[in-house]
Amino acid sequence: MTSAWFRWVLSLAKPLLWSIGFPILLTACGTSSNAPSAGENTSSTGGAIPIGIAVAQTSNVALLGQEQVAGAKLAEKYFNDKGGINGTPIKLVLQDTAGDEQGAINAFQTLINRDKVVGIVGPTLSQQAFSADPIADRAKVPVLGPSNTAKGIPEIGDFVGRVSAPVAIVAPNAVKAALKINPQIKKVAVFFAQNDAFSKSETEIFQQTVKEQKLELATVQKFQTTDTDFQSQVTAGINAKPDLVIVSGLASDGGNLIRQLRELGYKGLIIGGNGLNTSNLFPVCRKLCDGILIAQAYNPSQPNALNKAFRDAYLAQYQKEPPQFSAQAFTGVQVFVDALTALSKANPTIKVNAQPIAELRVRLNKQLLAGKYSTPLGEISFTPTGEIVQKDFYVAQIKMDADGTSGKFTFLK
Ligand code: ALA
Repeated sequence: MTSAWFRWVLSLAKPLLWSIGFPILLTACGTSSNAPSAGENTSSTGGAIPIGIAVAQTSNVALLGQEQVAGAKLAEKYFNDKGGINGTPIKLVLQDTAGDEQGAINAFQTLINRDKVVGIVGPTLSQQAFSADPIADRAKVPVLGPSNTAKGIPEIGDFVGRVSAPVAIVAPNAVKAALKINPQIKKVAVFFAQNDAFSKSETEIFQQTVKEQKLELATVQKFQTTDTDFQSQVTAGINAKPDLVIVSGLASDGGNLIRQLRELGYKGLIIGGNGLNTSNLFPVCRKLCDGILIAQAYNPSQPNALNKAFRDAYLAQYQKEPPQFSAQAFTGVQVFVDALTALSKANPTIKVNAQPIAELRVRLNKQLLAGKYSTPLGEISFTPTGEIVQKDFYVAQIKMDADGTSGKFTFLK
């Protein structure tokens, strides 16, 4: 008749269904024919609750997106092994956004209209979120940004939140760490990708922090995330004689820029922004990645049970410490799971009409904003607008091995 998932939605609605009478239930469920009702999930999730994952599995942005897929899949396994949502498993429905806005829009539309997911973890870039999130918001589908750190993401709409702390909270920590390592820093050169919303937002914070720390902003250089040759910007940057360089871009362009900066002789400290926070940077700048400072919203040593489970599972599968983007994607899935579990326990009366999924999405959004979560990122909650409230932040420094192919993030004290 109906899928286990749909039966679960109906079970939430039981009190109301009985109050309005069984015939309406039959109409609502479309049980008089084999065709699914307008609100029933038609994707082949085998009775599991579908959660959408819309991240970059292809394009340059997959350097970040691959880590997100890994984190989300570990969450799916972890929570299903624990019994899912009161016995009903979850099923991730992955849609590749690739690296641009249209890819994210297409992925969101498919997840919302065809796959009928309860909510979406995604997209990878803030640049994509500003285009795709309004679509989910209008459709009243909760979205959790797993890595969108630009200013203004939760403000896109009532159904948009994020588990990725914003640039204003994260970025200044890297500048403070650089000053701790080298208190003699006076002049700073800043580089940013001018075609990327996150990079523009992050550089504003970096530049503001430079001024607040009474440092001289010696030069500001712009590039595109599609650039591969940074000769002119790097030359101008080095001519300004900085003792700190700060780069806001994505892993591929940012890594190449840093490589060229070192090749042309820059010897001082380098800060990479959130878009460079991946070991997938290592093949781009190789041994010249050594020493890059990157602020972190996750620390594998975070002492709570959830993080231990996540870290152990990640280590077992990938033989390295879990990165921030994986931890945040895991957390995004977890927030949906925990909120669905809370909803299911409370057994609220969901109004069943032709579209029970619509009602559930609204309930889920409300519930997830109200909850507190013990996650790999530590204890988190949300402001009423959907901004993450998180306590602990860190800074790590890249240490490349002598062969220049492998390396690791070393967390600073
Ligand atoms: N933090 C980056 C962004 O928001 C990945 O786009």
